[in-house]
This record gives sequence, structure tokens and C-alpha cells, in this order.
Amino acid sequence: MVEKRLLDIRNLDSWYWPIQILHGVNMHLNEGEIVSIIGPNGAGKSTVLKNIFGLISKRKGHIFYKGKNIIKDKASDIVKKGITFVPQGRSVFPSMTVRENLELGAYIKKGDIEAEMKEIFRKFPRLKERQSQKAGLLSGGEQQMVAIGRALMLRPKLMLLDEPSLGLSPQIKKMIFEKVVDINKNEGISFMIVEQNAKISLSLSDRAYVLELGRNKLDGPGKQLLKDPKIQSIYLGGGV
Ligand SMILES: Nc1ncnc2c1ncn2[C@@H]1O[C@H](COP(=O)(O)OP(=O)(O)O)[C@@H](O)[C@H]1O
Ligand SMILES: [Mg+2]
Repeated sequence: MVEKRLLDIRNLDSWYWPIQILHGVNMHLNEGEIVSIIGPNGAGKSTVLKNIFGLISKRKGHIFYKGKNIIKDKASDIVKKGITFVPQGRSVFPSMTVRENLELGAYIKKGDIEAEMKEIFRKFPRLKERQSQKAGLLSGGEQQMVAIGRALMLRPKLMLLDEPSLGLSPQIKKMIFEKVVDINKNEGISFMIVEQNAKISLSLSDRAYVLELGRNKLDGPGKQLLKDPKIQSIYLGGGV
């Protein structure tokens, strides 16, 4: 199969003025891939995702999506091009119901959204049961399902997930990642995932990038990085 570049980040510099956070970052994602970004706290992983989604104003470089530079686009333009973002901390609207949260995900869609809603409920039956409940009353795992469901409502080409498993039990983490792999395989949605848990993210990713102090450190196929001695000693607790 010929690889098609969906996303191509070239020489990205990014600032939280006056501090430069990203220094010449290069990353890409081929159509259909799951790509993860790992690295220590403060490395700039979330900043990369925010850049792709047009949430950072002071930056330089190129972000090509389907071959077009989107570095000047705002989040509202980017979402229309088929990219959705699930930020760190999930950010559901706590006083709105599950259904209302999902409806918000489809805000730019005209017409009937029931087909999408049904599809989300098929993927996450738990949300169907809880659709009339206020999202703030759900467990962390259920809130993550709402956040992912909301980002799926537009049937994106690419989803950006920031620390989707943070604070969840091992069982729920596993379930969330199984869903991601399932959605990737069955619907051809590509994923760029920032994830603290290197073991999980590397094992499910086609490729991964290690970011340190705002710079590319290492990259390669996920399974290959899993075996890398440097990765094992720093990110996998000495090969555990
Ligand atoms: N809104 C902000 N304003 C100023 N500095 C920020 C802001 N967000 C993040 N930073 C700083 O940018 C650096 C990278 O942050 P971030 O991208 O969140 O790292 P990571 O996701 O890898 O933990 C950190 O030093 C952090 O303190
Ligand atoms: Mg982060």
C-alpha cells in the first residue's frame, strides 16, 4: 500500500511568550495510522497537539494537513477539515447531559445527527444507558467516553487525544484503548495520541515519537521503540 501523508509537521517552533517551548519539531502521520507522542512532563507534547488544532498563536514552521499548510488556520476552520481534539482532562460540560454533550460535538453539522448519536451509543453502550444523566456525575472513564464520543460526532479523519487514560483504572484504560484500536481499524480514523503510559501507547501505535525539552529525541515503529534499551530504562521502568 502506498503511504499517504495526512499530517506533516515541519520545523515547528512554538512559544508561550517569551518562552520557546518547541524547537524545530518534525512529525508526520500517514493516513490510517495511530501515532503516539511520549516524553516527560513538560516536554511539550500537549503543545504539539494544540498547535495542530490551531490553539497556539505564537509559532513558526509548517503544519501540512492533506498537503495544505494549516498553520494560519483557527480551530474552527480545522475542525471543519476533519480534525477533532480531545484535550487533557477530558473537559465534558458537567451540568449538561450526556446527550447534550454529544450534540455539542456535532455543532457544525447541519441536519439530522441521530445517525451519529446512534453510532456513538453502539460503540459505547454505557453512554446510551446514561444519556439523560448530567455528565459531571459520571465516572472518569465514562466522562472520557463522552469526550471521545463528542469528538467522533463529526466523523473526523484525524483525532487528537491528549492523555486519554490519565487517572483511569487499568481496566478502563484497557477498554478505552481497545475502542481506539477498534475505531482506527474499522473506520479508518487516524489517531495522534499523547500518552504517559509508554507501554500501552507504544504497543498499540504504528509509530511513535519521543519528545524531550521541546525537541525530537527518537522515533520509530511502536513495537521497535518498546524494545529500545534507552526507552526501556527511561520510560518503561527498566524493562518492566
Ligand atoms: N498556557 C501556558 N502558558 C505558559 N506556559 C505553558 C502553558 N502551557 C504549558 N506551558 C509550559 O510549556 C511547557 C510544555 O508544556 P506541555 O506541552 O503541557 O507539556 P507536556 O504535555 O509534555 O507535559 C511546560 O514547561 C509548561 O509549563
Ligand atoms: Mg500534556
